Amino acid sequence: MELYVLYYALRGMKLLTITIYKGKFILFGSFQKFHERSNSLFIIQRRIYMRIIKSIINAMAVLALSGSIAVSQEVEVLHWWTSGGEASALNVLKQDLESQGIGWLDMPVAGGGGEQAMTVLRARVAAGSPPTAVQALGFDILDWGAQGALANLNDVAAKEGWDDVIPEALQYFAKYDNQWISAPVNVHSTNWVWANKAILDSNGIEIPATWDDFVAAVEALSAAGITPIAHGGQAWQDATVFDAVAMSTGGPEFYKAAFIDLDEEALGSDTMKEAFDRMAFIRANVDENFSGRDWNLATAMVINGEAGFQMMGDWAKGEFLNAGKVPGEDFLCFRFPGTQNQVTFNADQFMMFDQGGVVSPEQAALASAILSPSFQSAFNVVKGSVPARTDVSDEAFDACGKQGMADLANASASGNLFGSMAHGHANPAAVKNAMYDVITAHFNGEYDSQTAVEELIDAVSIAK
Ligand code: BGC
Repeated sequence: MELYVLYYALRGMKLLTITIYKGKFILFGSFQKFHERSNSLFIIQRRIYMRIIKSIINAMAVLALSGSIAVSQEVEVLHWWTSGGEASALNVLKQDLESQGIGWLDMPVAGGGGEQAMTVLRARVAAGSPPTAVQALGFDILDWGAQGALANLNDVAAKEGWDDVIPEALQYFAKYDNQWISAPVNVHSTNWVWANKAILDSNGIEIPATWDDFVAAVEALSAAGITPIAHGGQAWQDATVFDAVAMSTGGPEFYKAAFIDLDEEALGSDTMKEAFDRMAFIRANVDENFSGRDWNLATAMVINGEAGFQMMGDWAKGEFLNAGKVPGEDFLCFRFPGTQNQVTFNADQFMMFDQGGVVSPEQAALASAILSPSFQSAFNVVKGSVPARTDVSDEAFDACGKQGMADLANASASGNLFGSMAHGHANPAAVKNAMYDVITAHFNGEYDSQTAVEELIDAVSIAK
């Protein structure tokens, strides 16, 4: 074993310990106070000491860039994956990095959909200390890209052929000005329904195929004294349901016109009014404690047999799995009735904040780990999402995951893949938030459907 330990010390100054192990420099800890003259192997003048240290640090920088150094660095990761299922998935990433000797400094900010996380991020950037890597969605990524705040990942992307395996719909949000600025982790979609199988079976309810079937199923549960719909009354959750309801009510052309193109006619249409009417039906069939409830607590109601259905993105599946539940046996997953051919997607990505010039070795390692096919499979199996690469096998995925992957491929091929309005993939945050306000006010009974339509047109025209 080749192991040398070099001490460069000065009395009363700081001690730097450098080990050379198997031909690699490893920097232990940081500078420490060094008082005991007798422990030093060399006592040298400060000037010489500084020169030596400088040349070693330069040599280490060169080695680090060439990838031949064991870097005892860490990444600080800001994210909003705080539920049980999300935390299990995050562990897959943490362990992957730790196995490469990269430490993980966790910066969780609770709040589904990531609004609170984005608020914390803005404060960190304003204070001049952005985290190394940040979970982000859609237009938020492009916004930071436009501000020039993100590191350039082109080298790692080119080396690993990201252009060939990441679908264009994701590349749209992962690149700014032809520069890769974030690493896509997954593809989620919002037009799913999660159901307690035992409840459906014991009430003779089949998976509803149309809105009318869904209404009949909800009414049957209500008549049986069961809470039909588990819901958390938070603006982003109301909007998540609205993604699916609007798609089902008006179809893909309507969804695109209203939410992506912000077409006034579609926003003000009778179809939009009908979508709001359907939201009112849903509101009438949630329990009375829905207000402010976190999404994963609503999922727990379905898991525990306290409610029949939850309309939520496929991160909900992570909660079922985390509770030891099996798709097809304990719970059912199906596309929101009337949206079987469509996918309203959102993709989690990690943006790497520019730490001063070149992308840091640990940022590159994180990006590379995220896009590795084995990680894409292992992580997404747990998270409930599907891979962000088109070349990952569906073998390890359960029935819902396999369906998710097939649905995504089919929707993409048939022009039925659309960015989720609720999760920042249809429009920038200002428009998204304007829509949230109206959808939530209507859900909470502040507006009737006609007023909501009018408010929606106004709010969007001010925000865009
Ligand atoms: C994210 C998911 C996350 C969910 C709930 C979504 O915006 O894409 O990864 O699980 O919010 O927090």
